[in-house]
Amino acid sequence: MARKIVLTSGKGGVGKTTICANLGIQLAKLGFRVVLLDVDIGLNNLDVVMNIEDRIVFDITDVIMGRCRPKQALVQDKNISSLYVMPSFSAYNKTNILGEHIKNVIDQLDSSFDYILIDCPAGVEAGFHRAVFPANEAIIVVTPHLSSIRDADKVIGLLNDYDISYKGLVVNRVRGDLLLNGQMMAVENIVRALNLPLLGVIPEDDAIGESNSLGERVQSIESARAFTLLSENIHNGSKKIFDCTYKYRGLVGYLKRNLKKHV
Ligand SMILES: Nc1ncnc2c1ncn2[C@@H]1O[C@H](COP(=O)(O)OP(=O)(O)O)[C@@H](O)[C@H]1O
Ligand SMILES: [Mg+2]
Repeated sequence: MARKIVLTSGKGGVGKTTICANLGIQLAKLGFRVVLLDVDIGLNNLDVVMNIEDRIVFDITDVIMGRCRPKQALVQDKNISSLYVMPSFSAYNKTNILGEHIKNVIDQLDSSFDYILIDCPAGVEAGFHRAVFPANEAIIVVTPHLSSIRDADKVIGLLNDYDISYKGLVVNRVRGDLLLNGQMMAVENIVRALNLPLLGVIPEDDAIGESNSLGERVQSIESARAFTLLSENIHNGSKKIFDCTYKYRGLVGYLKRNLKKHV
C-alpha cells in the first residue's frame, strides 16, 4: 500500500509544486516507486516543473471520465525509472471533479506504488477538498512570512475534518543570511506557532526559480542536500534538518552576508 501524502499550504506560490517534484525525485532515487499526482486542476504546472509536457497523452480527467486506465495517464520520468507523473488538465470544467473521483484513481494506483504525492492547489475551497480528501498524510508548506503562516494555520485546522493521520511542516525559501542578521522569522518560531513536527527546511535557491522558468531541473548543492534530508526524514522518521545559515557563519560568512546586503 502506498503512502498518500498531500502537499498543501492555503497560500499560493510558497513552493508546494516545487517540493512535490523534488521530494518525489529524491524518494525515487532512494529506490521507491513514486507517483506525483497533479490535483491543481486548471492551474496545473507539475508537468512543466517535471519537464514532461511534450509527452502527455492522457491526464487525470481522462481517467476520471473513463477514457483511459490510470496507468495510461502516467508519464514516466526520463531519468528515474521508478518516478511517474499523472498530469492534470488546464481547460477542464473542474467543478465536475470531486474528491471521491481522485480517491478512486488513487485506489487503483495504490498497490503498484510506495508513495503517491498529491500536489494541492492554493485556497481552501473545492480544489483543496479534492486534493486532501484522498490523502492520509499532509505536508504543510510555509515560507517565513506572516501571510503564509496565517494561511497554514487555517489549513491545519481544516485538516482535522479529514482522515489525515500525520501532519508535518516544511519551511521553504529560507535565507541563512537574513536569519543570522535577524531579518527573517526564525524557523523555531514558525514551528512553535504552528505546533507541528518539522520535516524539512529548504533554502532560497535562485537555481530553482531559474530552472522552473526554463523547464529544466537544476538546483544548488545546498537545496539538493535539503531535499535529500527531507526525503530521509519522511521515509525513516529521522530528524535531520538542513542548516541554511552554515555558509554565513564565521568571519567570511559575516562578510558574505553583509556584502550581499549592499549589492
Ligand atoms: N526554495 C526556493 N528557492 C527559490 N525559488 C523557489 C523556491 N521554492 C519555490 N520557488 C519558486 O517559487 C515559485 C512558486 O513555487 P511553486 O512550487 O509553483 O508554488 P506553489 O505550488 O505553492 O504555488 C516558482 O517560480 C518556484 O520556482
Ligand atoms: Mg503549485
